Amino acid sequence: MRDLYAVIGNPISHSKSPEIHTEFARITGQSMTYTALFAPRDAFLQTVNAFARKGGMGLNITVPFKEAAFRLANRLSGRARVAGAVNTLMRERDGWYGDNTDGAGLVRDLTVNLRFEIRDSRILLLGAGGAARGILAPLLQQHPRSLTLANRTLARAQRLQREVNENPELAQVAPLLAVCDYDAVGGETADLIINATSASLHAEKLSVPSVAFEWAHLAYDLMYGVGLTSFLALARDSGTQRIADGIGMLIEQAAESFYVWRGIRPPTERLIARLKSF
Ligand code: ATR
Repeated sequence: MRDLYAVIGNPISHSKSPEIHTEFARITGQSMTYTALFAPRDAFLQTVNAFARKGGMGLNITVPFKEAAFRLANRLSGRARVAGAVNTLMRERDGWYGDNTDGAGLVRDLTVNLRFEIRDSRILLLGAGGAARGILAPLLQQHPRSLTLANRTLARAQRLQREVNENPELAQVAPLLAVCDYDAVGGETADLIINATSASLHAEKLSVPSVAFEWAHLAYDLMYGVGLTSFLALARDSGTQRIADGIGMLIEQAAESFYVWRGIRPPTERLIARLKSF
């Protein structure tokens, strides 16, 4: 029998993870089956337990269960602890090991695939919800020159900044973080602009001044699979040199999860080229 893995979420039918992990298993010669698992919002634990009873060895966790998975894990990686969220669970003899590979996936996509040097760069991160929270610490830990977190609702950005300031594991990099609202975003202040808002999901425009994009080297939308988002179109039309959506991050976080489970790092380049929409 093949080893059993799955991605769990709600909704889940759109997930590309089964396709990605099935391809990873094929190219690395691992004997595994990876499926999509729907869980009712109030039955995450029951669904995970039923999966474990069937012999399930590992799970990826997506919206809205990453915090629930964090609470479920009885052993956590350092990066999961800092994120306060888990996207990877691995079955152990006495429970679940929880990890978070989202930040590592983004950093690898930026630095390896897109060849963007984060160290000493100026980053503008848009959004202060769950998606922004998950990548904030991993980005800071790459030691950019500055990271400005801008959000429509300033108070939410300030709350995230307080969390970073209060986290002893981030004491060294916390001073790199500044927060503001969109009106305060100026020109020539960012080399890299990342969209972690849910605006692209709802095809809404962001009211970030276009001058912010003029001198940027790279604009990156965490969203993927919807073609050119309004954020990326704004960046391109305002003069940003390069644009990228989040398909590379998706594949890289999957590769990192695969490594956690199987101890083998699958190659990603071809799959990214195949699933890329522009
Ligand atoms: P997620 O988990 O995807 O981050 P979330 O926690 O609901 O979702 O957060 C959504 C983020 O997108 C927030 O930063 C939100 O800004 P507010 O905090 O001001 O609500 C941002 N967002 C969503 N739609 C937006 C829009 N049309 N313009 C600007 N920001 C938007």
